[in-house]
Parts: sequence; C-alpha cells; structure tokens
Amino acid sequence: MIATSTAMNIWNYDFNLLPQYLEVLFAKLRIAVVFGGDCDRHGSVIYKTHNPRSWKSYETVAREIARALTEIGFQHVFVIPDDMKLPEQLKQQNIHLVWLNTGGVQGYNPVCHTPALLEMLGMPYVGHNPLNSSTLDNKHAFKRELQSIGIKTAAFMTWHPSQGIFDPNLQPRFAIAFGDYQGPFVVKPVSGRASLHVHFVDKIEGLSQAVAQVHRATHNTALIEKYLPGREFCVAVCGYVTYVGGAFHKQPKPFAFATVERVLESDERIFTSMDKKAITADRGRLMGAEENEVKQKLIELARQIYWEFSLNSLVRIDVRSDAGGELYVLEANPKPDLKYPGENVTSLVALGLAEYEMSYNDLIFSLVADRLDYLLTQHIEIIPHIVDLLR
Ligand SMILES: Nc1ncnc2c1ncn2[C@@H]1O[C@H](COP(=O)(O)OP(=O)(O)OP(=O)(O)O)[C@@H](O)[C@H]1O
Ligand SMILES: [Mg+2]
Repeated sequence: MIATSTAMNIWNYDFNLLPQYLEVLFAKLRIAVVFGGDCDRHGSVIYKTHNPRSWKSYETVAREIARALTEIGFQHVFVIPDDMKLPEQLKQQNIHLVWLNTGGVQGYNPVCHTPALLEMLGMPYVGHNPLNSSTLDNKHAFKRELQSIGIKTAAFMTWHPSQGIFDPNLQPRFAIAFGDYQGPFVVKPVSGRASLHVHFVDKIEGLSQAVAQVHRATHNTALIEKYLPGREFCVAVCGYVTYVGGAFHKQPKPFAFATVERVLESDERIFTSMDKKAITADRGRLMGAEENEVKQKLIELARQIYWEFSLNSLVRIDVRSDAGGELYVLEANPKPDLKYPGENVTSLVALGLAEYEMSYNDLIFSLVADRLDYLLTQHIEIIPHIVDLLR
C-alpha cells in the first residue's frame, strides 16, 4: 500500500499538479527510448525467424526523441534495442518508463511484441497497447473495425498464402466484396510500411500475380482493395494533454493536427516510399484556411478514430478520396515517423506543428506528459515505482 501522508499527496492527483510533478520527475525518472533490435546481431534472438513486416531499426529517430527528452529536462534518458536482452537492460538501468519507437524484431505481428513484453514486466510505456498495436498494424483487422463503426474505407478482401493461388473468378468472396467492379485495384501487404510491395493493378486479370508477389515477399496475407483515384491526405492525432507556448493544456478532445495533402506527381498512383524519396515540404502540403471543410473533416475523422479505439498514443491516419472527393481511411500508422525536422527533410507529422506554434520538443513533451497524466489519473495503482519518485 502507498501511504497517503506524503509531501505530495499523490492520491489527489489533479492535472494542475502535472508541471510540479514533472519538475520532480526531470531529476529522477529514468526513461528508455526503445528502437527495433536487429535479429542478425549475435545474442539478439534465440532463433532467427521470418518477419512479414519489412524490418527497420528506427534507431536514428529514437536518438532524436531521446535528445528531445534530454533538452526538455529529463536527466536520465537511455536508448536501447528491443531484442531479447531488453528486460535485463531495463532492470540493470533501473528504467521507470519506456518510449516505444520500434516496429519489433521479427516474427508475426512484430509491432505488438514489445508492448506485450512490457505489459508482462509491469513497465509503463509511451506507445500503444498490444491489441491496438496489432490491430493498427494489420490493415484488414483495422478496416473491419472501421466498417463496424461506420467509417468509410475502400472495399476489400484478403487472401492468405494457405488459401492457394488467388483466382478472382473462382471466389464468391470476390463478387461479395467488389460486385461488378472491374478495377483498378491496389494489392498490398496487410502489415507493411513505406509503400513497400504496394501494387497498382489495372484489371482483374493482374490480381493473381500481384497477390502472389505480396505472398512471396511477406509470407503473409495480401489485401486487395478498390483503387481510390482522388487526392491523398494524412492527419496526426494524439492525446488530450499538449504542451504549447510553455504551458500544459488539457482538452476534452484528442489533439488532431498536421492535416497534410500528400502531393502526388501526375503519373504517381502510389505515394512513393519514404525509403526512396525523403519527405520534403513539396511532397507534403500543409492544408490552410482555403480548404477548411476538408481539413475539419480530417480532424473529426482522426478524433473519432482516437476515441473509438481508446488510443493513448500518437497515430498518423492516411486517407484517400474517391473520384467524387469522398474520404476513405487507408490505414492508421501506430508508429508514425517522428524524424526531427531538418532543412530539407521532415516528417508528415512534424509538418503540422508550426500551425500550433509547437516545436518538435513540444510534441515530444506533450506525448510523455499525456501518458503520465493518463497513468496518474486512471491507473495510479499500477505505477507505484513512479509514485515513489514523487514522494
Ligand atoms: N486503395 C487505395 N487506393 C489508392 N491508393 C492506395 C490505396 N491503398 C494504398 N494506396 C497508395 O499506396 C500508399 C501506401 O499504402 P498504405 O498507406 O496503405 O501502406 P503503407 O506502406 O503502410 O504506407 P506508409 O508509407 O504510410 O507506411 C498510399 O500512400 C497510397 O498512395
Ligand atoms: Mg500509409
């Protein structure tokens, strides 16, 4: 039991106390920013297996997040890979809170492995819980949930390698999903990133081959969708607490920002992977007052998704419109790129900060403060090690 006769009566936590608590935590809280461990590194896993999601370490961004946390004032910030040594490392370094900047090491549903491990260890984290991580990183699972809550997403079906060669003419499911629609389609991995292995398929005849290509590359389910020919947008959304203009604010609605149009070139059907072409200001156009209607729709959509899925960390939602301008959700990225914005390269999320007079560090501070506020308000009993620091 935690005694109540303390210098700070933590049982009566109130949002107004957050700045005072953070002042104390700056000196005491030990934070680890965790990036994707490399399964080829000796001692990182017991057996190397397959990863259906294209692996990336995200270490550079993890270091940028760590630098921001240090600049904000946290005096004990570590950067650690999420391989099998993670629990030992967290214990050795006496870590109190983890920031997840990882897509996992290997295996199926890799994005949920590290939050699941942290749940088992009793370690709080900035990031999505295992179920939300998995749902968001499996586009078909996310789309099924979107349909159930009435949010538009392109008509689709899936095909798993164990179901054999895909022949649309032999599959009643195909007609159920698409009716007499003849194309074009998009075929892509259910768990992917950076537009890798995303195929534009003009006609039904090309589907079988594209599905086989996705199966070969990922050994995992392929998603077949109607192609949406319209404009492409994204919008970021995070929690209720933000740090703006040197002060914390808590709003009744999640903070939706960075309403950006992803600018496609005239012959560009699929937005080119950021692995091939960096995100520069001309590839992402921040939407202004001249497009207030679409902008507000994106903001409302983002808030609705955040609320319906009970998210408690940042996502970037990718949206595309049909020929009539109607918006359809493509996916929500559970670990959107948080690259520190430089002169020629930025991230789709960071592009939207200036509009709210926020810096990169303000966003990082908002995310960590929102998580601490959530834990102190809703779950104070599961973070006794952090409460102890506040005595
Ligand atoms: N149904 C669709 N209609 C039109 N274009 C699509 C469709 N699905 C995907 N795309 C195009 O392919 C790109 C990548 O698709 P999606 O966002 O689903 O996957 P991803 O590889 O996870 O993306 P990200 O780069 O955001 O991580 C989109 O940005 C879009 O340009
Ligand atoms: Mg996307």
